[in-house]
Amino acid sequence: MKTMIDVKHLSKTYGNKGNHAKVLDNLSFQVEEGEFVGIMGPSGAGKTTLLNILATINLPTIGRVRIDGQDITHMKENQLNSFRRNELGFIFQEFNLLDTLTNRDNIVLPLAVNRVPVKEINRRIEKVSAILNVETSLDKYPDEVSVGQRQRIAAARALVSKPSVIFADEPTGSLDSKSATELLHYLTEINIQEDTTIVMVTHDPYTASFCNRILFIKDGIIFSEVVKRGTRQEFFDKVIDMQAAIGGGGKLNGL
Ligand SMILES: Nc1ncnc2c1ncn2[C@@H]1O[C@H](COP(=O)(O)OP(=O)(O)OP(=O)(O)O)[C@@H](O)[C@H]1O
Ligand SMILES: [Mg+2]
Repeated sequence: MKTMIDVKHLSKTYGNKGNHAKVLDNLSFQVEEGEFVGIMGPSGAGKTTLLNILATINLPTIGRVRIDGQDITHMKENQLNSFRRNELGFIFQEFNLLDTLTNRDNIVLPLAVNRVPVKEINRRIEKVSAILNVETSLDKYPDEVSVGQRQRIAAARALVSKPSVIFADEPTGSLDSKSATELLHYLTEINIQEDTTIVMVTHDPYTASFCNRILFIKDGIIFSEVVKRGTRQEFFDKVIDMQAAIGGGGKLNGL
């Protein structure tokens, strides 16, 4: 098996000397190619900070991250831009679709930037739209389709450039349970069919139960890890137990 993400001695501190907060404290872990890994933990535990560092959107204070053998923490901005375009896909809670473009053009955007030939673009759109079941939404605008369809368009945009890794931060956060379940099935399908590595932050044990492994973050360290063995239901039960053990299992507890 090939290591896709290799994190070594990663720390992140916000603020300056007099007033600083250590959000991540010496994390080391690996994600293998084709894994579907969840990141869970109480609100404020540092999940988004960690995901954003892995996704090249934020920088660590100490430590390094390798993705597909390349050290993303020491890349120049132009290298980083092409690395993002070629290797990474992002699905955020807020979709980040452009309202002035059709859904099709939103999906195409990363390919157009990369100057992929039109024939190839059309072939890929056909394929991801079929996987994500968004064919009938393609020629509408984002505000003309449902929230669940919008999130699937955002997923299609993340997939169309055939990334090695997809990063998702609470991708089901604003979806009803039916749309959430559909999206999770699609992500699973992509994970299996394309061997795409997925790293997903979530508060929700049901969403997490689609992963192969969950890293639980608390107080800036990896508090524990739960690996899927047996059925999704068994995994779900283990995730719930671990959330109870960790305390402050989610946003509700933070209110
Ligand atoms: N840019 C920043 N500057 C200063 N502090 C920050 C910054 N971003 C995050 N933090 C702090 O770092 C800690 C971790 O934040 P982060 O967003 O990573 O948590 P999280 O686990 O994703 O929480 P949630 O579940 O609520 O989304 C929090 O205490 C937060 O206030
Ligand atoms: Mg967060």
